[in-house]
Amino acid sequence: MIGPFAGLASRSLFVFDPETAHGLSVAALKTGFVPVCRVPADPRLVQTIAGIRFPNPIGLAAGYDKNAEVPDAILRLGFGFTEVGTVTPKPQSGNDRPRIFRLVEDRGVINRLGFNNEGHEAAFARLTARRNASGIVGVNIGANKDTADRVADYVLGIRRFYGLATYFTVNISSPNTPGLRDLQARDSLRALLEAVLAACAEEAVRHGKSVPVFLKIAPDLTEEGLDDIAAEAISHPLDGLIVSNTTLARDGLKDRVQAKEAGGLSGAPLFRRSTAVLAKMRRRVGPDLPIIGAGGVSSAEDALEKVRAGADLVQLYSCMVYEGPGLAATIVRGLSSLLDREKAPSIRELRDSRLDYWADTKL
Ligand SMILES: Cc1cc2nc3c(=O)[nH]c(=O)nc-3n(C[C@H](O)[C@H](O)[C@H](O)COP(=O)(O)O)c2cc1C
Repeated sequence: MIGPFAGLASRSLFVFDPETAHGLSVAALKTGFVPVCRVPADPRLVQTIAGIRFPNPIGLAAGYDKNAEVPDAILRLGFGFTEVGTVTPKPQSGNDRPRIFRLVEDRGVINRLGFNNEGHEAAFARLTARRNASGIVGVNIGANKDTADRVADYVLGIRRFYGLATYFTVNISSPNTPGLRDLQARDSLRALLEAVLAACAEEAVRHGKSVPVFLKIAPDLTEEGLDDIAAEAISHPLDGLIVSNTTLARDGLKDRVQAKEAGGLSGAPLFRRSTAVLAKMRRRVGPDLPIIGAGGVSSAEDALEKVRAGADLVQLYSCMVYEGPGLAATIVRGLSSLLDREKAPSIRELRDSRLDYWADTKL
């Protein structure tokens, strides 16, 4: 179990700059230094979403395990699923350092990494080495900064990882690759989805299995922008949405220094905006399209609020920086207690119960 020592180890990482601390925490997971954290199986938290059976609804969001180095160690922390990437076809170094900033008072993070990653082949080799292991490992795919054809980069991702991914995330919402978010505009999105889903259909025949595809969107969209994405999501055989990536907004921050850094803001200050956008999308797409809610989740109460706003599943990353590696297990246990309190037969029963409140929240 993760005890006070792991919490202490996690806090002591604060003496390092954020990127060094991140590298050390991945190294610790690789060596098995972080203990296993079993969560009690609770049938009320088990759900089948997009054809995948999730043992619990809490996943690690993309960006922590960019190169697929530690998916199994992450699952041993109590996460019900994990997402590697974003991976791009070619390796790339990303933006200059420093490029991750902690907003400690706000429990937030700003990053402008710019898809630093070792490229498809490195992640492919690691995922191939664990291909017979169990556990839900999604692959988040993106485009190289200098690519001549962004859509082709996503198609390469689908083809490379089809045999290894439990699901795909098509990430068009990082603010740190110039022009990437333009893929959320209606015509560009249509062309992207057509190409990606056509590649999936071909690979499904070749592999004899169907791998679901989620689209990950930004929280900085207008109501019209949300309308367009919802319309395209519904008119294609897309399996779901992830709402949301980091924000360019800087509302309500106490920090006046780090807040000026360029990049995407995540963690607690993103909770309200990302939850409102999630509910606005749930209202638009209807009850059947799966949605994974991400942004600022730091407790079981936060996770349940995402579900009440319309999420089927929840992802987190930034708050783990502050709360330590035991956060997923704490949240999963906390969800069981909240279901006891609510006398709810399953977490699913509570979905959408605060949809109107969140969907009517002004951004
Ligand atoms: C340092 C850092 C790197 C990230 N890298 C990626 C990435 O490569 N791909 C992606 O889709 N999202 C990335 N994200 C966004 C997260 O996956 C998540 O959507 C967002 O941070 C909101 O969740 P959180 O508040 O729990 O962190 C990154 C976030 C952080 C903090």
